Amino acid sequence: MIRIRKPEVKVGEKVKVVEGGQEILLIYLGAGRYLAFDNKCPHLKCDLYKYGVLIREELVCQCHFSHFSVKDGRPRKGPAKEPLKVYSVKDDGEYLIIS
Ligand code: FES
Repeated sequence: MIRIRKPEVKVGEKVKVVEGGQEILLIYLGAGRYLAFDNKCPHLKCDLYKYGVLIREELVCQCHFSHFSVKDGRPRKGPAKEPLKVYSVKDDGEYLIIS
């Protein structure tokens, strides 16, 4: 579990959270909702903060165009066979709890 001060982000903006050797990609959806994923693509470890794009219900890694479900991280298209780790994010007022 990671607890971070809520970042100042606009809707659709990405943030890379680095905490205790862990890198997490956080995307703000607006209205207090966030998505959080492991920042390394499970295919060949591209940096999703740099190469990840949210397209509807999928996070797409633009390195080799693997598509992952934002719900469970399962690969839907492209070369990745392993799922992308998805975290839950709880808005706790001033802080976000990522677990
Ligand atoms: S590293 Fe992400 S698709 Fe290859």
